[in-house]
Amino acid sequence: MCNVIVNKGNQKVVLVSEKGQVLLSLLQRNDLFIESPCGGRGTCGKCKVTILEGHENISYIDAVEKTYLSILEQKQGIRLACRVKVYGDIKIEINTKDQSKASVMIDGAIKTSIDSDYQRNVKKENIKLRIPSVSDQRSDVQRLEDGIGIDFKYIPKNVLSTLSEILRKSDYDISIAYSGDTLLGVEQGNTEKNNYGIALDIGTTTIAGYLININSGEQIDVYSSLNPQAAYGSDVISRCDFSIENSQGIKVLNQLILDEINSMIAYFVSNNGISRNNIYQLIVVGNTIMLHLLLALPVKNIALSPFIPVITKKYDTKAKQAGIAINPNGIISYLPCISGYVGADTVAAIVASEMYKTDDISLLIDIGTNGEIALGNRDKMICCSVAAGPAFEGAHIKNGVGGIEGAINKVYIDDDCRYQTIGGKQPIGVCGSGIVDGIAEMLDKGIIDNTGRIRSKEELEDKKGEKWIERIIQVDGKPAFLIERLEEQEIVLCQKDIREVQLAKSAIAAGINILINEMKIKLQDIKNVYLAGGFGNYIDHDNAVRIGIIPDPLKDRIIPIGNGAGVGAKIALLSHEHLMLTEELRRKIQYIELSSRMDFQEMFIDYISF
Ligand code: FES
Repeated sequence: MCNVIVNKGNQKVVLVSEKGQVLLSLLQRNDLFIESPCGGRGTCGKCKVTILEGHENISYIDAVEKTYLSILEQKQGIRLACRVKVYGDIKIEINTKDQSKASVMIDGAIKTSIDSDYQRNVKKENIKLRIPSVSDQRSDVQRLEDGIGIDFKYIPKNVLSTLSEILRKSDYDISIAYSGDTLLGVEQGNTEKNNYGIALDIGTTTIAGYLININSGEQIDVYSSLNPQAAYGSDVISRCDFSIENSQGIKVLNQLILDEINSMIAYFVSNNGISRNNIYQLIVVGNTIMLHLLLALPVKNIALSPFIPVITKKYDTKAKQAGIAINPNGIISYLPCISGYVGADTVAAIVASEMYKTDDISLLIDIGTNGEIALGNRDKMICCSVAAGPAFEGAHIKNGVGGIEGAINKVYIDDDCRYQTIGGKQPIGVCGSGIVDGIAEMLDKGIIDNTGRIRSKEELEDKKGEKWIERIIQVDGKPAFLIERLEEQEIVLCQKDIREVQLAKSAIAAGINILINEMKIKLQDIKNVYLAGGFGNYIDHDNAVRIGIIPDPLKDRIIPIGNGAGVGAKIALLSHEHLMLTEELRRKIQYIELSSRMDFQEMFIDYISF
């Protein structure tokens, strides 16, 4: 056994490692999570740690590490944790992600029109019951049912056990929480207004939760954080692989997300002085794999062709059974998914956009860690999924980062290169919108040619007078564009980054085209283009069109809807009609599988160029 001393900020932690153990898995097992978007495959170069002591007690630096670490970094003792094996005592330093700084798209840019006219899923009413007497010997339950006018089919045992005491202590003045013919809780006195629910959007990268007063429809609080499962890979496939390769994989991923949800609930409770027993429903949306992992269901068959989920229909469980710490009788509703790769988040965004309501044909594009596209109107709706997200989330980009403080989110090139960061902080890397801007500006200046190749300084001879010409440097033997040079780091857009974005944008463009062909319509027939997700909200529309994510004729029809998935979840929480609508949409929306289609492959190649 060996000792691994880990310095993390001001903290020092001592871990015990077996000889030959991989450093990244040792850290993860001890809940010390560092960035590892590729899930430890050695393909992202992000899992950097500094070896302070004991260099002789670890494996030699290998070819993969040499690809990702500069000479300076190697001299400073920086290594990739997923490549390092521990053979003796060492001391290391790590940077863990500060979750509180996650900048998560939590707002819906569209208005939700859910007022108190809509039937709620959970109701809470105050009633005063007649006091028993020898001439009125109805049971406590009968008295309660007669008072509220409902014959409850399900009464939880814990409610039954305390009912007689509550009735007598309150002088038969009680508040009853129920959903349909299910009794959820009984309290003394008039507590009708204490009727809360949570709408939760579990993204592959980020989580956004909304505490809502169900009676008034008012949003009380918001919680956002990074999805802790990201320690096991930035995309859904890496997480599926982790769950397949490790016998405890599903359990580990399930526990991580449950812990995060319960932290959110604890935050809501303490920040708002409410009781968790008064939170009666949690509506959850997310992609199909996120929902499977929340239910601890196997995801192997979604990952492998023919991509079959265990369940896509709306599913309800009791909170206690789900391990979620709201009222134990509360309802956890998992909204329906369309297929293995079009999830409840897309269904919720469709609800939020209201594209299902009108005769106008609308296109909805949700670019998150994956890209989902839906097209249609009240009569017909089709959808598909494309592997598009990771590049726009910064995951496969050399200096890519998510939308966190310090991320470069806007890039301009005039005589020189200028940029803006989230929170105005010192730059730490480039996020999706910055990447799109950077590439669009490089195309306009001729720094990138139409094939996506970055031109060398020599080829840009005619631009010699421009200041930015000095920003063309060499990275991995190829020209790259330097956005910023810091003391310890260069922030660049390199050739590999441009190629990643080309793959992503041509997948989206080809996906849109396939749906248009399937609907037998023309591009011009599309009246609205709803852009969902944080990325859709922050990108510059002109630049998105310039690099070919969105077809030019649709430029003026773009409507950002912010976190459409979160808005849809809130609507379903407040309106029983809309909750039922999600299930109707699941049956109605047709999924188009692109992976086996030759026409998709051909279009994909056609759209690769700028
Ligand atoms: Fe180590 Fe990706 S390279 S986790």
